[in-house]
Amino acid sequence: MEDNIDSRNKLNDLTGKEWLKLTKSFWLSEKCVDDKDAFKHPAPFLIKDIMKLISMFTKSEMRVLDPFCGSGTTLIAANNLQRIGIGIDLSEEYKSLAIERLNKKNYTENKDFFYRIGDANKVLKNLQAVDYIVTSPPYHNILRNKGEGLRKQSEKGFRNGSRIGVEYYSEHENDLGNKDSYKDFLTSFEQIMKKCFAILNAGKYTSIIISDFTVDKAEVCVQADIVKTMQNCGFEFVGTTVLLQDNKPLYPFGYPYAYKINHNHQNIINFRKPKE
Ligand SMILES: C[S@@+](CC[C@H](N)C(=O)[O-])C[C@H]1O[C@@H](n2cnc3c(N)ncnc32)[C@H](O)[C@@H]1O
Repeated sequence: MEDNIDSRNKLNDLTGKEWLKLTKSFWLSEKCVDDKDAFKHPAPFLIKDIMKLISMFTKSEMRVLDPFCGSGTTLIAANNLQRIGIGIDLSEEYKSLAIERLNKKNYTENKDFFYRIGDANKVLKNLQAVDYIVTSPPYHNILRNKGEGLRKQSEKGFRNGSRIGVEYYSEHENDLGNKDSYKDFLTSFEQIMKKCFAILNAGKYTSIIISDFTVDKAEVCVQADIVKTMQNCGFEFVGTTVLLQDNKPLYPFGYPYAYKINHNHQNIINFRKPKE
């Protein structure tokens, strides 16, 4: 593989060797020092994981959207790579947290990045075209599962992945984490993804980061449902990268009676908007 950027490469700024490395179907999730500033949000991305995605799917100066932007990790990752970040979230509180993180890195709102407050389903109607979308929706209502069982006995005493005193995102009725049923959650997610599809430039990519989870104590193959939902919107499925989270604790959920899985990875499910 080449050590230079191929003149035919319209996708990213990577050499052949760098490109090949990122096509591996699993990555180890990587922490960095700036991640700790997101601690007031229950489920932030890690900056380095998102930088890898942005470097695979965009060139510098391109526009990167996260319609469930939370603590602004996608905006930081985009700005670190000289891309323009555009974020949306229902919560003013998470916007303030994001601005604090972005200002600390000397990134300027409405120049290096944009952050809109509101329901993504509405805000997306007024946005200009983007070149890549990376996002993670609420995992239905799992943050409201207070982990009364085994997790409660864990050292920290709260649901794995959440933070002390922050158990769910908001009380807002349009918050995807507050939908009554898993079916309603998927329907609302689909409405938002249809709008994302409309503003994504043709031939460009979208990555949805989510793990499987249980609904009413039954294991659900969320990945399969997300692929179907995205295909309904017009996206082509192009492959899943497994993001390994090897430091997450193991809980003996079914032991010693039945097999119950521990989710120690996220799926980065990648899609492409077909070329016109
Ligand atoms: C999994 S978190 C995303 C975390 C983010 N990746 C980060 O690094 O902080 C999902 C976010 O979606 C937001 N959200 C839920 N429903 C929404 C909606 N309808 N429109 C916009 N944001 C929404 C929540 O407030 C929450 O911050």
